[in-house]
Amino acid sequence: MAADPDLQRQPPARGQDRPPALIRVRGLVNRFGRQTVHEGLDLDVYQGEIIGVVGGSGSGKSVLMRSLIGLRRPDAGEISVLGVDPRSDDPADRLHLERSTGVLFQDGALFSSLTVGENVEVPLKEHHPDLPDSLRYELSLLKVRLAGLPADALDKLPSQLSGGMRKRAALARALALDPPMLFLDEPTAGLDPIGAAAFDRLIRTLQQALGLTVFLITHDLDTLYTICDRVAVLADRNVVAAAPLAEIERHDHPWIREYFHGPRGRAAARAAEGAAQES
Ligand SMILES: Nc1ncnc2c1ncn2[C@@H]1O[C@H](COP(=O)(O)OP(=O)(O)OP(=O)(O)O)[C@@H](O)[C@H]1O
Ligand SMILES: [Mg+2]
Repeated sequence: MAADPDLQRQPPARGQDRPPALIRVRGLVNRFGRQTVHEGLDLDVYQGEIIGVVGGSGSGKSVLMRSLIGLRRPDAGEISVLGVDPRSDDPADRLHLERSTGVLFQDGALFSSLTVGENVEVPLKEHHPDLPDSLRYELSLLKVRLAGLPADALDKLPSQLSGGMRKRAALARALALDPPMLFLDEPTAGLDPIGAAAFDRLIRTLQQALGLTVFLITHDLDTLYTICDRVAVLADRNVVAAAPLAEIERHDHPWIREYFHGPRGRAAARAAEGAAQES
């Protein structure tokens, strides 16, 4: 099924005027051998929004993210991230993107032999080699605290942290260069519901305080209901809908119906309604 043009045209959840699209994807094609993962995929991500990206396992969410951050050269199509083609060979473009995007991969991907502080210092060393050690240390401490970790986490190895703390450490590293844009692949996977809810609140708080634009892949319905401004649904090798949740829920694509109107979807919707009434 092709992307639903009506849903794509819906205004964002917040504000009357649509902010500029910081990510623009048109006609994206990704293939692995004879398997086509994306076939003419279109997507816009607007400045200052949290867009939740959902879809069945293997629907191509992580491949889409890898294409957006320049780790994969698509087979066809056009991508612009902050005005730059992520596969540009121009070193200035690459530098611009590396400095402007923080990435949290599906598997966390911290350097296991480095402490949390050293992990956070890696991008600082790479992009600001002239920073004095003491300032780099202060900045890494600031990011670790911003990600909600205690200061003593700085000297710990990733293996000495809980799963939730490792996610926060990876987030601290993603924030190291003060990027305006974050890419998060399943940030709450593997966390208990309370830890996941706390991580969601952290993302929302950071996004609001720092004005971030967030591309967030998730399976977590609670995350979608509590922090996402819009949801993009990947199915049939395309984005079949990208809209605020209230409109997505009314969409009649079979995967969307099953996902949002199955028992777990209904429970998440009820919980979100309850929380909205309490506040
Ligand atoms: N490097 C690769 N080589 C071959 N096939 C790949 C490669 N990377 C991804 N794929 C295939 O592309 C499809 C989409 O993968 P992707 O990792 O994007 O799925 P996903 O939507 O992120 O799934 P999940 O929710 O399980 O993380 C899968 O069928 C996967 O096997
Ligand atoms: Mg994935």
